Amino acid sequence: MKSFTADRLLLFGATGDLSGRMLLPSLCALDADGLLDPKLEIIGTARSDLDDHGFRNFARESLEKFLPADRRGGVATFLNRLTYQPLDASSTDGFDGLAAKVGTPEQGLAIFLSTAPSLFEPTIAGLTHGGLAGDNVRIGLEKPLGIDLGSSCVINDAVARAFPEDRIFRIDHYLGKETVQNLLALRFANIMLEPIWNANYIDHVQITVGETVGLESRVAYYDDSGALRDMVQNHMLQLLSLVAMEPPTSFDSTAVRDEKVKVLRALRAVAEGETVTGQYRSGAICGQAVPGYDEELGKDSDTETFVAIKAHVENWRWKGVPFYLRTGKRLPERVTEIVIQFRPVPHSIFSGKGAKSVPNRLVIGIQPEENITLSMMAKVPGLDRDGIRLRSVPLDIAMPDAFVGQHKRIAYERLLLDLVEGDQTLFVRRDEVEAQWEWIDAIRAGWAESGLTPKPYIAGSWGPSAAIALAERDGVTWHE
Ligand code: BG6
Repeated sequence: MKSFTADRLLLFGATGDLSGRMLLPSLCALDADGLLDPKLEIIGTARSDLDDHGFRNFARESLEKFLPADRRGGVATFLNRLTYQPLDASSTDGFDGLAAKVGTPEQGLAIFLSTAPSLFEPTIAGLTHGGLAGDNVRIGLEKPLGIDLGSSCVINDAVARAFPEDRIFRIDHYLGKETVQNLLALRFANIMLEPIWNANYIDHVQITVGETVGLESRVAYYDDSGALRDMVQNHMLQLLSLVAMEPPTSFDSTAVRDEKVKVLRALRAVAEGETVTGQYRSGAICGQAVPGYDEELGKDSDTETFVAIKAHVENWRWKGVPFYLRTGKRLPERVTEIVIQFRPVPHSIFSGKGAKSVPNRLVIGIQPEENITLSMMAKVPGLDRDGIRLRSVPLDIAMPDAFVGQHKRIAYERLLLDLVEGDQTLFVRRDEVEAQWEWIDAIRAGWAESGLTPKPYIAGSWGPSAAIALAERDGVTWHE
């Protein structure tokens, strides 16, 4: 691959929600930290009929709203980097004008495409037509990239006609989260975990992504998608693959992605009874009454807003270790965490003294709290005349405390910088996406065959009781 740092960044969907909430704030924050090439020009494009000035106003307002005040130092300088070209991407007509606005980059062009799935193909055709797909151009693709394997292949084929894989950057913003990357450091920069990171020592794994929000303003998208495709197909499977993968030989894009894809391909097809789906009814979140999903939607729907799955990675390391996954909207708290539940000690020397020991557990908090807690057994101080008492005590690494003075960065800061500089390690390769879809499609086919429909749950609860039963049947309690 030709390596270059782009000196032009072209943002499709520049006046959209993602751009205002995440992309522009991330770029501005990078700029303020001196991390953007001084030559980098950022060209926004979208349907909205704005000029440079109008786009800068949009950006200014977004930054005021979404960028923390202590990171807004360089806003004025940042706004000077921005220009704008309106475009109807459904036809090739406007792409010559867009190409003229982009001009001739000295080093290269990075494109960030966040657009409706129906616009992927025409946009790629337009970029080719406008000469914006040459050797010195790379493209970042934001989800949704299809709704199943077939449609994702159509999109990937269309993109592949214009860009080789080493210039395609598929975004999963979870990979941009610092704590997600820290999972790799935890596993592979410490000696003591890897020897016990397998079925001999681990009883099960839990991955929870809980959200308190409901539909927000994404009615049409979400109702066609549902929790399985919106969250499991991408973010949760990426987390699972990072937990389960073999050590890559280096932190490089091929080595890391080779190992992840092996895990994804080793996922066993989910059997009937190994998934539970739910849809929230009205309830309360943090004391605030909230409507049910169908009320928000304005009609009845069979879309799941919650899903729990008992997954298995069928390989030597993970034989017989269930991975319990659950995610949902309108759950009691916003939390993303991974729980590694270790097995009990093979023989307790304390049992004759009346002491009970609890198996060790490692909890990796991804958000909102970034911390890693290992529960260890310790003796309760005392003279033990009535027997020895043991208690589980936490060994805590609170990341913000350990790294005082470091900014909490938006996931897109890292991803945009890697896109501009051309590092694919934290982007999803086509074979990963396809393995993800294959597994998800089989789950959906199973649901269709068995006529599974989502069970109601009260907003503010942890999903339908069947999700609790899914784990409890195996003697497992969800970590809360
Ligand atoms: C997106 C989903 O990919 O991730 C949303 O489409 C979800 O439905 C969001 O709310 C969650 O991201 P985060 O970073 O807030 O956990």
